Amino acid sequence: MGQELKRTSGRTLDHVAHVYDLLSPLMLFGLEARMSRPCLGSLEDPSIRSVLDMGCGTGTLTIEAAEKLSGRPGSLVVGMDAAPKMIDVARRKAAGMNNLRFDVGIAEELPYPRQSFDGAISTFFFHHIERALKEKALNELWRVLKNGRSALVIDVDVPTNIFGKICAWSGYYLFQQDEIRENIHGELRASMEASLFRGYEIVRRHQGYISVFKLNKQGGM
Ligand SMILES: C[S@@+](CC[C@H](N)C(=O)[O-])C[C@H]1O[C@@H](n2cnc3c(N)ncnc32)[C@H](O)[C@@H]1O
Repeated sequence: MGQELKRTSGRTLDHVAHVYDLLSPLMLFGLEARMSRPCLGSLEDPSIRSVLDMGCGTGTLTIEAAEKLSGRPGSLVVGMDAAPKMIDVARRKAAGMNNLRFDVGIAEELPYPRQSFDGAISTFFFHHIERALKEKALNELWRVLKNGRSALVIDVDVPTNIFGKICAWSGYYLFQQDEIRENIHGELRASMEASLFRGYEIVRRHQGYISVFKLNKQGGM
């Protein structure tokens, strides 16, 4: 019996799963590794043993995170995504690794108990979901993160220079994706402020339109 798939209005990427790893570096000018470095950096603390990668796609960063945690006893990195074909590719890439797992699921209804993870990362996922879902997914991230821990989110944000404006608006017109326009207009920031995280810190900017956000869970459930 197959696993029941939850429905989402998020823009899932089953249709490009087979070419995603070829296209993604082109869209990010080959700077993917440099951009995701802060995510891996946020996992330096040796007390971090369980990590969630929300909207993990084909799992490239999930695998790097699992490699980083591999010497820590009982470590587990979980990548989750709503597109089963993206998860199939991720599972194939990670064959033989034993401190990671890939789940099909939706970010607005995470299938994990509260306070499951010591850390969380998410790259280029939030411009795939609309404003209401951004806030729901952030609240879910908050719920599954342990108290006193942080999540790092990298995504399209309000452009700060001409180059950033050109890149961000080109992305919007190319993909006709309203969720990108929302980010350009500051809706991702607004969702972070309205979410249970109650705010964000921008720890790095790339290319004038991509921000690295740090979200802290101070306390709570
Ligand atoms: C641009 S990709 C980013 C993938 C990966 N994090 C990366 O940086 O390469 C966005 C991903 O979000 C996933 N997605 C869209 N809506 C979703 C949802 N509601 N819940 C979980 N994943 C979703 C898509 O299937 C896609 O794999």
